[in-house]
Amino acid sequence: MSERVVVTGSSGYIGGQTTIRLKELGYHVIGIDVQSCPQRLRSYQDRSFQEDYASRFALDLIADSQPLAIIHCAGTSLVGPSLLDPERYYNNNFVKTKRLMDHVRVRVPKTRMVFSSSAAVYGEPVMTPCHEVDPTLPISPYGESKLMIEMLLQAYQRAYGTDFVALRYFNAAGADPKGRHGQNPAATHLVARVLEASLNQSMFTLNGNDYPTPDGTCIRDYIHVDDLADAHVRAMLPETAPGIYNLGTNSGHSNLEVIDTARKITGIELTVAQGPARVGDPAQLTANSEKFRLATDWKPKWTLEDIIAHAWRWYRDGV
Ligand code: UFG
Repeated sequence: MSERVVVTGSSGYIGGQTTIRLKELGYHVIGIDVQSCPQRLRSYQDRSFQEDYASRFALDLIADSQPLAIIHCAGTSLVGPSLLDPERYYNNNFVKTKRLMDHVRVRVPKTRMVFSSSAAVYGEPVMTPCHEVDPTLPISPYGESKLMIEMLLQAYQRAYGTDFVALRYFNAAGADPKGRHGQNPAATHLVARVLEASLNQSMFTLNGNDYPTPDGTCIRDYIHVDDLADAHVRAMLPETAPGIYNLGTNSGHSNLEVIDTARKITGIELTVAQGPARVGDPAQLTANSEKFRLATDWKPKWTLEDIIAHAWRWYRDGV
């Protein structure tokens, strides 16, 4: 019988893509998500449950499954809204993950927890690219909730011997290379906004143009969702050392470069309105991902062009 893997947030963007990869590799995939499993992902999840990941039902399910790993992608994940409603972020992310871990350490103590962390833990980075040992000074309740979970995972590992890998994603983007999955409509992220505006012939608002970068717009490290799915599978294997890892491409692209690449790929002359800088946006945020590469041999396969081409197909062909 194939090994079982539990994925929380399995109906979502990154969790869903990870279920596809796991299934293709022959794992028995158990999905848990408060949203029902979209039709497109059904064949990649042997069992899927519409449940809160910290509900009694979900916790018992996890214990009964004795999975090789729990890939914990569930959570609430927007920086801006977390400033307006911090309670939701501390609760959905930290409090519930604590409940999950309190259960894991007693009922499935050998199971590896692969946790979706974020570059948001760095806040305004002291230097770029970011290394895992750099100071973590989050500037939003979202980033704080992710950092609190990392702290809990480390403390539990030291005290109770539980096993974890935390993956600090930089800017997840793109869609499944075979068109099977992607982001839901109206996502707030740059690639989504640029492509949806191109598709709908609507105006795109560029946040800020006087950052201390070569073209004045923010620089980010875009990592393809399929490369992230690959990274999760490598992270859950026992031969990967536990700990915290950055996941990015070691290079950055400015907002204007993303817009230009999108114009080239879509052939559509996107209309751009210049807006003010968004509060809390660091000028540059890129990752040094050497630690994960050395630990697992992982190398991002897809470029910014691929990211935009795959996402474009996803939006154009109908989500
Ligand atoms: N942007 C625009 N217009 C838009 C949307 C975004 O100009 O309509 C700009 C942003 O201001 C920023 C860049 O595009 O300069 C990237 O913004 P995103 O919202 O796509 O991504 P962020 O870099 O803000 O967020 C990412 C991750 C978060 C993580 C955060 C850490 O998506 O999960 O980095 O800073 F928390």
